Amino acid sequence: MLDGYPVFTPHSEYARSIASLSFGVLWTALGIFLLVAGLVTYATYKFKAKPGEKTPKPVYGNTKLEIAYTLSFVVILGTISVFSIRAMEASDPPTGEHPDDLLIIAHQWWWEVRYPSAGIITANEIHIPIHHPEQLGFESADVIHDFWVPELGRKMDIIPGIENKSWIAADNPGTYFGACAEYCGQEHAWMRIRVVAQTPEAFSAWEQAQLRVPATPENGEAMEGAKYFQELSCASCHTIRGTDAQARIGPDLTHVASRETLAAGRLDNTPANLAKWLLEPDLVKPGCRMPNLHLPRQQQDSLVAYLETLQ
Ligand code: CUA
Repeated sequence: MLDGYPVFTPHSEYARSIASLSFGVLWTALGIFLLVAGLVTYATYKFKAKPGEKTPKPVYGNTKLEIAYTLSFVVILGTISVFSIRAMEASDPPTGEHPDDLLIIAHQWWWEVRYPSAGIITANEIHIPIHHPEQLGFESADVIHDFWVPELGRKMDIIPGIENKSWIAADNPGTYFGACAEYCGQEHAWMRIRVVAQTPEAFSAWEQAQLRVPATPENGEAMEGAKYFQELSCASCHTIRGTDAQARIGPDLTHVASRETLAAGRLDNTPANLAKWLLEPDLVKPGCRMPNLHLPRQQQDSLVAYLETLQ
């Protein structure tokens, strides 16, 4: 019944503990609602005034009944508290005993994703091997954000100057969707996350591919594009390893073509969409930090050709 609602379709032990609690509270609340609504409906019909009847004598209090329902609230809320505390412990095991597996840096309005031990830097798309809990460290580059991938783990606020950590894991290969869950400005809605959970073999193949330094094209349009990338202001915000572009204001583009989306989920990553993004970032994602460079058509085509080589 609740398939398709990520909170209720957990794919990790952390998310499962949260989903069980949600279901438990939901069914308990539904039971109480049905009981109360049922009793009200029953009383409405049973004690309806009949023609000629006098106003009945009011009943003032019933000590036994009052003690019974007060105790039932204590029992119900006490039980929910016990299960809540258990779910909190299960979904949020102790962190900080070993270094973070991933460092997530939230920016207005995209996610920087770093794998400190491997040295990989990517954006908006997190790859993890299945059955391998990953400790996430969070940093904010600007305002408060919130990381949430409901199928894989708990929500975590990302607050400037505060070091928060949490865990995610996935039982099955697949792509799991998440989003920033704290209003962080104009493009908050387009601050999407995707977690690609892979078999260990597929994950290490991805890792190897990400670690490669892409070859700079030596002819054709792509070569022109590589030149424009350095000459225009692209290189003052982005990094492409193996080139002079080493800035960290925008996403690392070393393997931009290997990612599924552009602009934190705003567009599917296709050459046509990349062209659109380069040409009118201010229309595609109003308020975003990517400037409109008013690129002439030919520069735009060359840049697309170059960026598409960054697999
Ligand atoms: Cu970042 Cu909302």
